[in-house]
Amino acid sequence: MATALIILGAGMGTRMNSDMPKVLHEIAGAPMLVHAMKSGAALDPARTVIVAGHGADLVEKAARSYDPDVTVAIQSEQLGTAHAVKQAREALSDFDGDALVLYGDTPFISPETLAAMTAARLTHDIVVLGFKAADPGRYGRLIMKHDQLDRIVEFKDATDEERAVTLCNSGVIAADSDTLFDLIAAVGHDNAAGEYYLTDIIGIARDRGLSATVVSCDESETLGINSRVELSRAEALFQTQARAAALENGVTLTAPQTVFFAHDTVVGRDAVIEPHVVFGPGVTVESGATIRAFSHLEGCHVSRGAVVGPYARLRPGAELAESVKIGNFVEIKNARIAEGAKVNHLSYIGDATVGARSNIGAGTITCNYDGVFKHKTTIGADVFIGSNTMLVAPVTVGDAAMTGSGTVVTKDVPAGDLAVARAKQQNKPGFAVRLFEKLKARKAKGS
Ligand code: UD1
Ligand code: CA
Repeated sequence: MATALIILGAGMGTRMNSDMPKVLHEIAGAPMLVHAMKSGAALDPARTVIVAGHGADLVEKAARSYDPDVTVAIQSEQLGTAHAVKQAREALSDFDGDALVLYGDTPFISPETLAAMTAARLTHDIVVLGFKAADPGRYGRLIMKHDQLDRIVEFKDATDEERAVTLCNSGVIAADSDTLFDLIAAVGHDNAAGEYYLTDIIGIARDRGLSATVVSCDESETLGINSRVELSRAEALFQTQARAAALENGVTLTAPQTVFFAHDTVVGRDAVIEPHVVFGPGVTVESGATIRAFSHLEGCHVSRGAVVGPYARLRPGAELAESVKIGNFVEIKNARIAEGAKVNHLSYIGDATVGARSNIGAGTITCNYDGVFKHKTTIGADVFIGSNTMLVAPVTVGDAAMTGSGTVVTKDVPAGDLAVARAKQQNKPGFAVRLFEKLKARKAKGS
């Protein structure tokens, strides 16, 4: 059956104490909204509707960066979760199938859990995702009657007896789309918060003779984020799971607690990640590569057998071929480094290509920016770039060429040539000794 996702993200998130809409706060380099979309993607949804309100433009932009086909429905006043879902009705008026409601502030629902909900839908009209809470706090309580879910009571409206129930509402609900919108139309706001509660649809459905059940999952999956403290806990939980998954997949992490992954980091088997490595979004490290201590990688690709760091920085567009070596205090941005090439010390290579087996000497810089435009540097294969070469782009150095140390390259260097561009050295015999004597004498006189 076709599924439509409805993801709620209109709330301001007052407790975040932020100018940014809550669902855009990031976990592992992606907005929590994108995490929610990624977990919903496990159902291969035919449609996705994001309900946005506070900062709707920004929320829409973030949602489209993950899935350009999403529909954004605007909830201009936040009157409650049922009212929020109602805003998706028009976008789904021609949709036939199941609707699944997810919250943009609940990022970790697993594919297995969503599959269990889909399976439960075969026998029940409404399926709610619940969890046993260690500390049920202010979560809504799931009230069972025999083997059916009878109703959901919000904390604010619950009696002491109901508050003692530990089976809690995650917010995730699945039902036939038309049924869901029909039920929502009957929801009122006569409650402690004066809001239209989505949770009221269960009581209404039961009164109409529909069936409802609960699928349970681990509390860690339903973690809802309402404050910076909860955001930091979610980050920690994500990192713990990502480290465990990497180890499970055959990656060596010498000090797992010090490695930070992004939501989409891919690391191959037998890769070695040394301590204090940070991955930003968009990184692939192939099998058998080594990332040495204190390196920072983002938007880059590291091939088999390459060695990066210690203390290296790979920025977006860094493409390292097999057996490349990138050493300490080297920054690579938007550059392809071909097989076996080495950039070992204190260099900046940006907007460039470096050919196979070329060696870039210490302190070399591609001067790619003229203050207004960026320009490209092309270095061929088997090139030797002398230490402290400034390559003033746009410029090309041909295959098997060389540059002398300290050269400022402003013209193309043909293949096989040596380019030297620096002042000629003069030696003045005995001059140093005489100068030292003069200076020491002046110091002794105290002037
Ligand atoms: C909700 C549930 C509660 C459940 C808890 C789980 C209701 C009435 N209560 O409470 O049973 O235990 O989540 O985390 O549903 N939102 C909108 N528009 C609105 C209101 C909310 O888009 O008008 C969005 C928020 O941006 C957020 C989500 O819905 O992503 C949940 O809203 P929130 O106010 O955090 O609900 P809770 O009080 O936590
Ligand atoms: Ca919440």
